[in-house]
Amino acid sequence: MKKLHIKTWGCQMNVYDSARMADVVTPLGYAPTDEMAEADLVIFNTCHIREKATEKLFSELGRAREHQEARAAVGERMLIAVAGCVAQAEGPEIQRRAPYVDMVFGPQTYHQLPEMIARVTRRAGRVLNTDFPAEAKFDHLPLEQAVSGVSAFLSVQEGCDKFCSFCVVPYTRGAEYSRPVAAIVAEAERLAGQGAREITLLGQNVNAYHGEDAGGATCGLGGLLRRLAEVPGVLRWRYTTSHPRDMDDDLIAAHRDIPHLMPFLHLPVQSGSDAILAAMNRKHSADDYRGLVERLRAARPDMGFSSDFIVGFPGETDADFQATLRLVRDVGFAQAYSFKYSRRPGTPAAAMPQQVDEAVMDARLAELQALLREQQDGFNQACVGRTMPVLFDGTSRRDGHVFGRTPFMQAIHVPGPERLIGHALPVEVVEAGTNSLQGRVAANVPEAVI
Ligand code: 5AD
Ligand code: SF4
Repeated sequence: MKKLHIKTWGCQMNVYDSARMADVVTPLGYAPTDEMAEADLVIFNTCHIREKATEKLFSELGRAREHQEARAAVGERMLIAVAGCVAQAEGPEIQRRAPYVDMVFGPQTYHQLPEMIARVTRRAGRVLNTDFPAEAKFDHLPLEQAVSGVSAFLSVQEGCDKFCSFCVVPYTRGAEYSRPVAAIVAEAERLAGQGAREITLLGQNVNAYHGEDAGGATCGLGGLLRRLAEVPGVLRWRYTTSHPRDMDDDLIAAHRDIPHLMPFLHLPVQSGSDAILAAMNRKHSADDYRGLVERLRAARPDMGFSSDFIVGFPGETDADFQATLRLVRDVGFAQAYSFKYSRRPGTPAAAMPQQVDEAVMDARLAELQALLREQQDGFNQACVGRTMPVLFDGTSRRDGHVFGRTPFMQAIHVPGPERLIGHALPVEVVEAGTNSLQGRVAANVPEAVI
């Protein structure tokens, strides 16, 4: 038996891809290990979205090289591979800076891993594979998937055609591609059969989904969710990440009509200033976003929102930043991620004048994060005393507790036995912190009624 160690950075799509890479090499005799030192194959699945994420790769590669040399000293071979978006964007640079890396390959080529491994083990040279192969990757991935636990990811869409001016994704992940409905339904049924009770549909721009249905017509994300809602055994559906422009009426209506589509939506807005939104090529205004939130809340009154923000985009003035704070106050977020703008070579924004000072970015980020934290805290506090369904998916670090998630993705610790894992029960929230809740099981009712 050979050992495989995968380290993953970045988005949930990468988490899904890493699991699928493991599935691809399982038939070759590779079993997963957490210890890099003992691995025969090490894969770094990388993220290129901000500069920091890229830097981390090179420091990890140095560590891997030491293990590789130690193994070589005793006559054993450790293959090192770099996958993901840094591989796609900077393949030749990785080969130049880290010549001991055996394989560099982009996200569209994972199904070709067996051939790539065969090539390097025959010592037929290093592999650099950043093609966008004509055959769809998904059609060539194995049907067998390792058991993924209570919460599973299912990739339905890849790539992005939006070209936000700061973002590398359209270049690293390529054009939008949607998997056919039948393939997604079949994968959901397999996941449910393996015990998945919650499935999160993934895509870089998931609500731009436009897959082919059984009749050959095009189906949007709302239609896909209606079809998936019929899959037995799945208690919860989610999807991420969405673009405000692609939030159509049918998808909003799906939030009204499908009770087990969770009332929590990650909907990145990036900025609250119309001038900055235009420079970002987001193709919507701050008021469009406010209107969208209103329509979603009308469809599903308990809807909680999460978002992404960038501070210090080129040309961002103090007034622009104040507009972002105003939008945050108007919407009221349950949770959010915020970043300093990171200049990415090759994107339009990298060439824009008026790049913002690091110190100004730091100050704006701190102010925005303080406000977002206050809102997250407020959202959590407002849950105290409420009873909500919790899906238990693991043991808690607190003794005698199990760990679960509320519909709003809040982490919650509840006293109870391990056998609750994999089940959903109504839980009364008794205490709230900024990052997690404490609760107690309110009633032992059948899952069908919660
Ligand atoms: N700089 C900073 N943040 C970025 N993001 C994407 N590109 C950049 C960049 N160049 C953020 C956006 C996106 C999230 C995944 O990462 O907010 O929604
Ligand atoms: Fe990047 Fe914009 Fe596409 Fe999101 S929608 S992946 S931010 S280009």
